[in-house]
Amino acid sequence: MVDVLVSIDVKGSQKIATGKVREIFDAGDGRMLIVTTDRISAFDVVLPDPIPYKGYVLNLLSLFWFDMIGDIVPNHVVTSDVDKYPPPFNSDPRLSGRSMLVRRAEPLPVECVVRGYLAGSGWKEYKEKGSICGITLPAGMVESQRLPEPLFTPSTKESPGTHDENIDFAKVASIIGRRNAERIRDLSIEIYRKAADFALKRGIIIADTKFEFGLVDDELIIIDEVLTPDSSRFWSKDTFMPGMSQPSFDKQFVRDYLETLDWDKRPPGPHLPAGVIEKTVKKYIDAYEMITGSKFPFN
Ligand SMILES: Nc1ncnc2c1ncn2[C@@H]1O[C@H](COP(=O)(O)OP(=O)(O)OP(=O)(O)O)[C@@H](O)[C@H]1O
Ligand SMILES: [Mg+2]
Repeated sequence: MVDVLVSIDVKGSQKIATGKVREIFDAGDGRMLIVTTDRISAFDVVLPDPIPYKGYVLNLLSLFWFDMIGDIVPNHVVTSDVDKYPPPFNSDPRLSGRSMLVRRAEPLPVECVVRGYLAGSGWKEYKEKGSICGITLPAGMVESQRLPEPLFTPSTKESPGTHDENIDFAKVASIIGRRNAERIRDLSIEIYRKAADFALKRGIIIADTKFEFGLVDDELIIIDEVLTPDSSRFWSKDTFMPGMSQPSFDKQFVRDYLETLDWDKRPPGPHLPAGVIEKTVKKYIDAYEMITGSKFPFN
């Protein structure tokens, strides 16, 4: 049986927030429980049909990477073992595999984007200005080309519905102070390099990604999700072809299908045909299996 989680309430607990994909509960004692649902958003709109297993994939991939980059930076994970959760969460079998208990941090209000390749808003800014976030790049680069060095291209963290805005390093320093700005810049680049090298050996190009950091009692830690198909552009190494936009590993079938419709990209989003859902599920599971090298445990 396919088990799907679209939304969740846990009796006897207080929900702190509902994002496009995650639901967050207060777990007491400076902790929160983050549940990753199977909701999918495209063009910033949550679609009415879930992608089965997506929540597992995002949650398990984040845990995989948190562990791998543990020698670079501490993270917010306390445990993902449901038996060790505080009540009432420890008696809820729906949470297994798709949740983690974390330390609640004060998030630094900057999205730490790292780009190894020219895509998305980075490509757009390069075409207009020859630079990204104030960093000048060689002339004549083409779309999706690998950058000479990975770049830290931060953006503001805006409230839902507003688009994040690229900012330069000086602006980051003015928001969170020079010392923290330097630390999150250097950490972001170091994490990206390690993860991108690792993923490439397994056939996946991490074109760019976004990290969030937070403070817990003055300690700087990495929070939120890391290096998932939702927070990153994953491309297949086999089909990589600079000079054009690359199919994204995960949501491409969804976006391609939506582009065939007469939909204005405003809520409510349209339903997806079963075939599009099936192919998308397979892509998420492929990403999990290629990166971790283990068989996906839930299907
Ligand atoms: N350890 C933590 N402490 C405090 N806040 C955290 C922690 N980990 C993640 N968060 C916050 O929780 C939220 C994660 O929820 P989610 O990903 O669903 O929402 P979002 O990314 O803000 O918005 P959306 O996904 O809807 O665009 C983010 O706002 C993130 O900053
Ligand atoms: Mg998020």
